[in-house]
Amino acid sequence: MINLSAISKSYRQGNDDYQVLHDINLNIQAGEFVAIMGPSGSGKSTLINIIGFLDQHFDGNYMFNNVKVSDLKRKQHAQLRNQSVGFIFQNFKLITNQSVGENVGLPLLYAGMKRRDIVSRVTEVLTQVGLPDSYKKLPKNLSGGQQQRVAIARAIVTAPNFLVADEPTGALDSATSAEIMALFKNLNDRGTTVIMVTHDEQVARQTNRLIKILDGRIQSDEEVRHANT
Ligand SMILES: Nc1ncnc2c1ncn2[C@@H]1O[C@H](COP(=O)(O)OP(=O)(O)O)[C@@H](O)[C@H]1O
Ligand SMILES: [Mg+2]
Repeated sequence: MINLSAISKSYRQGNDDYQVLHDINLNIQAGEFVAIMGPSGSGKSTLINIIGFLDQHFDGNYMFNNVKVSDLKRKQHAQLRNQSVGFIFQNFKLITNQSVGENVGLPLLYAGMKRRDIVSRVTEVLTQVGLPDSYKKLPKNLSGGQQQRVAIARAIVTAPNFLVADEPTGALDSATSAEIMALFKNLNDRGTTVIMVTHDEQVARQTNRLIKILDGRIQSDEEVRHANT
């Protein structure tokens, strides 16, 4: 599904170019559950922003389901993002003055779905993430873990090809973090492709593939072994 070859990325700093990603080669198939780990500043967010079609300014070749991403016009690139990927962030990024249901339904509203269909689809995904009674609540009246569930519901509501999660458990305590990981695992078991950045070795161990990044280079890329218990 995702094929990156020789991806490099630089930022302009004054008169100099600062290279953040160096020659990244990476293939991710549909159905995978991938963790990306690395020190702060190693380029993890930069990489997943390219993968998730937030950033089109890179060198190298990104093929997504046989589409050459760098050939797309800006509008097509944005369209691919809206149709193909769901994002989840460390700080949830919910709209504070809108209800949980409105937050989750927003991507469907943008996609032009009818109101009645939106309500029924939102109700379905809220149930799927374990929040069947939260439609009319405001995000601020939910716990951090519940707010992240809302963000996950918003990310999956359009049934995207894959999810990109940037430190999704970074703001949560370890028990809540385990619950959120169980939800990602459940989604992955049902066929959702998940690509997750994390600082937490415990979190990374629960995925199926661990990619380590150092100074903008892939340092290792290994299958995660799970204990048979
Ligand atoms: N928009 C930007 N402009 C300039 N430098 C940036 C920008 N975004 C990130 N960087 C730099 O790129 C490097 C990698 O950043 P990032 O991908 O956010 O790392 P990570 O997510 O692994 O912490 C950092 O040194 C950061 O300062
Ligand atoms: Mg980051």
